[in-house]
Amino acid sequence: MISMISSVGRNRELGKNNSLIWHFKEDMKFFKETTMGHTVVMGLNTYKSLPGDLPGRHIIVVSNDLIDGVDTVNGIEPIIEKYQNTEEEVFICGGASIYKQFLPYADKLYLTEIDDEDDEADTFFPEFDKNEWNKTFIEESSQNNINFKMYLYERKII
Ligand SMILES: NC(=O)c1ccc[n+]([C@@H]2O[C@H](COP(=O)([O-])OP(=O)(O)OC[C@H]3O[C@@H](n4cnc5c(N)ncnc54)[C@H](OP(=O)(O)O)[C@@H]3O)[C@@H](O)[C@H]2O)c1
Repeated sequence: MISMISSVGRNRELGKNNSLIWHFKEDMKFFKETTMGHTVVMGLNTYKSLPGDLPGRHIIVVSNDLIDGVDTVNGIEPIIEKYQNTEEEVFICGGASIYKQFLPYADKLYLTEIDDEDDEADTFFPEFDKNEWNKTFIEESSQNNINFKMYLYERKII
């Protein structure tokens, strides 16, 4: 099963200057709890932007380069082949280029929708047709007077 996990602003803002725009403790906790014990897949830019390790998660980086001590794949196909139509859930963790490539194959989207915007954002989550997904509220929180809600989108079976 291919799942994507992301946090987006009102205009699908993802990041700027190769870092996150918002840093919410409860959202970090949600990311940690949701991905714990799973394989997480990310693009090279996102990997380079990580502040540290992700203990308890197996990181695979999508890159044309090899990185010492980290598993890499030089295309999305090996991940699709391994996880499409499986019980085991893999988490696609960004950034923009990676979300865009995996979106057609994703079964689930764990989206934190942040009630804020940033006109300096330079990377965006891809547009998707919400009619093709069932949306379930998971939890909500706020920090610095900014509200954010976590939702699970599950692709409708047609
Ligand atoms: N809000 C969120 O939830 C969230 C989550 C993650 C990231 N972000 C943000 O997103 C931004 C980064 O996104 P991004 O789109 O710039 O970068 P990215 O998707 O993290 O990484 C892009 C790089 O990955 C490699 N890559 C991508 N597709 C590939 C393929 N099919 N085959 C081989 N290599 C491939 C390429 O690197 P090489 O060609 O150099 O190998 C490419 O330049 C940052 O601001 C980050 O903070 C936000």
